Formats: sequence, structure tokens, C-alpha cells
Amino acid sequence: MPMSEQRARADIGVIGLAVMGRNLVLNMNDHGYKVAIFNRTTRKIDEFLAGEAAGTNIVGAYDLEELVSSLESPRKILLMIKAGPAVDALIDDLAPLLQRGDIIIDGGNSLYTDTIERAARLEARELAYVGAGISGGEDGARNGPSIMPAGTAAAWTHIGPILQAIAAQVDGVPCCDWIGPNGAGHFVKTIHNGIEYGDMQVLAEAYDLMHRGLGLSHRAMADVFSEWNSGPLDSYLVEITEVVLRAVDSDDTPLVEQILDRAGQKGTGKWTVVSSMEFGQPTTLTAEAVYARIVSALIDERHATAEVLEGPSTRISDDPAAVIADLHDAVYASKIVSYAQGFMLLQEASDEHGWDIDLASIASMWRGGCIIRSRFLGELMEVFRKDAGLSNILRSDFFAAAVHRSQPGWRRTVTRAVEAGIAVPAYSSALAFFDGFRSRRVPANLIQAQCDYFGAHTYERIDRPRGEFFHTDWN
Ligand code: 6PG
Repeated sequence: MPMSEQRARADIGVIGLAVMGRNLVLNMNDHGYKVAIFNRTTRKIDEFLAGEAAGTNIVGAYDLEELVSSLESPRKILLMIKAGPAVDALIDDLAPLLQRGDIIIDGGNSLYTDTIERAARLEARELAYVGAGISGGEDGARNGPSIMPAGTAAAWTHIGPILQAIAAQVDGVPCCDWIGPNGAGHFVKTIHNGIEYGDMQVLAEAYDLMHRGLGLSHRAMADVFSEWNSGPLDSYLVEITEVVLRAVDSDDTPLVEQILDRAGQKGTGKWTVVSSMEFGQPTTLTAEAVYARIVSALIDERHATAEVLEGPSTRISDDPAAVIADLHDAVYASKIVSYAQGFMLLQEASDEHGWDIDLASIASMWRGGCIIRSRFLGELMEVFRKDAGLSNILRSDFFAAAVHRSQPGWRRTVTRAVEAGIAVPAYSSALAFFDGFRSRRVPANLIQAQCDYFGAHTYERIDRPRGEFFHTDWN
């Protein structure tokens, strides 16, 4: 009997049975929710129900009408499909089938401005729209991701219990909470990914310095990451880097060396940088991480240039133990800068959009489930909890002390890398930001004078009140 005739009511519908969608469905089922599923290629529904979902309470729907009629009211429908025009196309098909108060949740990596526009469009039709960033990859989706939902506030009462039940839990607190209106959740996920890009680049530079600079074996490098994972750098990304470095190919040689050095990107790192420019906040470390991926992808260009341009010997002759200790500090300090920058951008976007984002709550949500989960985020949460008005983590007692402790090793690492001709864009751009941001005076006076010279842009004077503008006839 078709399900619509059975009148079986599911708690939530999920559209899209790629790996994230499938695993979230299984996760919801584990938590006692009845889930109805739909996928455009309906064969995938049957395969899933006969395979991973066999013996569960999950039910298939073979068109949108059937899906909608199978759901408890208000209907909650989670879209787990590719971000972009496909989301709009699906919303256009789905919305006419829904009733006032029904809820559409977009769980993909959508551009937050698209989410703002979609929320407005659907709220005008008295439907609720939620843009929920979901992080954690396949394993997170199956066993507890970090979920960052925002949109129509009335939706939270209905979807909150489900999302919080399936999310990762840290100290009994779900890594999921309501973030704010319209695009706030997708913006927060974008910044999460920008920080993720930075964290990955920072670790990649450590590998490069240990590998090409010190000539360490893969086992020795893995041991370093293992040790780092029991200190302030304790994190999922450090943990998986150790595993990656230990992995061997069929001939027992390190697998990582067989992987083409060409990094892809789906766009969220770029969006972080674009919005950093729009909001006038410097996320230089994410920017360098995005550019490093771009440079990596110019593989033929790099190979051609390598034939022509030479640098110094990449060998670092200092005591390896001292180099590694300094490297730890470079990673840690760069990471502090990266998070400081990411949270500056979050705060500014929140102010400009009126989102009223609670930064402590964001740090809390990122402690577990997501790709950047770490001990660091617990410390960050505490710092924001202690001082809700904190405008920059670099000025908190905890992180100011940490960065002061790390500074000498960080500088020595950048110096060594520069001397060895090994690019460390993340460490060096973080350091450049740090030195600029802590300077009372930067050379922008000269920039402004140059602008006034060639374009009469005017300038303010240090001995006059702000807002008074002067022009000099320089000739
Ligand atoms: C996550 C990841 C996930 C994915 C992105 C980024 O939080 O689970 O960030 O969203 O890795 O698609 O992919 P790129 O690194 O290719 O941009």
C-alpha cells in the first residue's frame, strides 16, 4: 500500500540521499525519530531502504507530494542537496505543497546571502525557512555533527529537539543551538570553513618544514603530531594528520607522498575572504590558505617555473628538537590569530546584519562534531563566557599570554622558513597581521599622503580632531 494511504506520519522528511543525507537520516532514526526520505533518483531510495536502512523505521516517498503528505504538521523537511540553483528549484517545487508554518531546512553549504533571500521569500508565504550549516563529514553526520541553524525563529521549537538530539554532545551540551535570523547559520558555517582552511594550511606548513626542512621520516612526523595532540593543539585535524602520515601505500612507502599536490576547493574559504573584504575585517590567514590552494592547483605553471627559478637549500641545520618546539609555537600562535580574525568577522557581520550572534555559543557549538573541533575551542568558549563584551580574543588574558609565550618560537620559525626558501604563508601572514594589529602607528600616513598628492583624497591630522580633512598642494 502506498505510504500516503497508510497515513503514517513521520517526524521529519529528508531530501537528498548522498552520504551526508543518508547518515543524518540514520542518525535521526537511531534517536527514535521517524524519518521519511525522498531522492530525485528514486532508485537510491530503494537501495538505501534495502541496504543501510534495512530494518529501521525509515520510510521512502517517491515524489514530493507523497513526502509532504507523510509528515506530521508542522512539516519539517531537511534539504541535503548540492548548494546553488538546485536549492531554489527544489524550493519552487516544494513550497506550493506546504502549508502555513511548515518548515524547510537547508542543510547544505549555501551562500548566506542566498539564505537571506530565500528566508524572506518563504516567510512572505508564511512558511518557515532555516539555513543550517552542518559540519563533521560522513562520520559526524552519522554519529553527531555540529549543527548551526538560523532563520525563522518560530521554527526552532519544532526542529530544536531533533537537531540537538542528533548533534555531537560535549559535557552533555549539544553542539547545536539557535544562532539567529535568516543567513546567520550559513554565515557561521562559512566562517567555520574559512577557519578550517587556515587550520589545515597551518598543519601543512608544519609538515613541509619537518619534511623538506628537517628531512624527518613520516613516522617521526607522525610522532610529533601525536605529541601535539596531547597539548594545546589537541584537535581532530591534528589527530587525522598523524593517521595520514602513518598510512603506507601498497609498496609500504608513505601514501601521502603519492598524492598529487593539488588541493581543490568548493568555495566556502573563498566566501570567507570575500565577506572579510565586504565587512572590512582581515581574515588574512584564511586568505593565504585559499591562495595556497590556488597556487597548488597551478601545477603546470609551478613545474615550469621550478625549471627557471632557484632558491636556497631547503635544509634547516638547527637542532631538530628546537626547530620542532618552535614550530609548535608557530602553529599555536598562527591558530590564535586565525580564530581572532574569524571571530572579528563574525562579530562585524552580526552587528551589520543585526544577528546578535553569541560568540561563546558559537565556540561551544564548534567544540565537538565539526572538522575544527578541538580543546582550543573549549578555551575560547571560556574566554567569551568570562567576558561577554570581549571584542578581540588577542586582548583576553588567556590568549594574550599564550601568544606572548609563543612569539619567539613563531618568529624563529618564520625566519628559518624564509632562509630555507620554504613558503609558510599562514605563519608569516599571521605574524604580519599580529605586528600590524599591535602597532600604534602603521605607515598608512604615507599612503594617505600619496593619495592626497595624486588625487586630492585629503587626510586627517594627528594634532586635529578626527573628521577634519586637509589637503596640501604638494608641489
Ligand atoms: C565540514 C567541511 C565540509 C567540506 C566543505 C569544504 O565542515 O564538514 O567543511 O563542509 O569539507 O565542503 O570543502 P573544500 O575544502 O573542498 O572547500
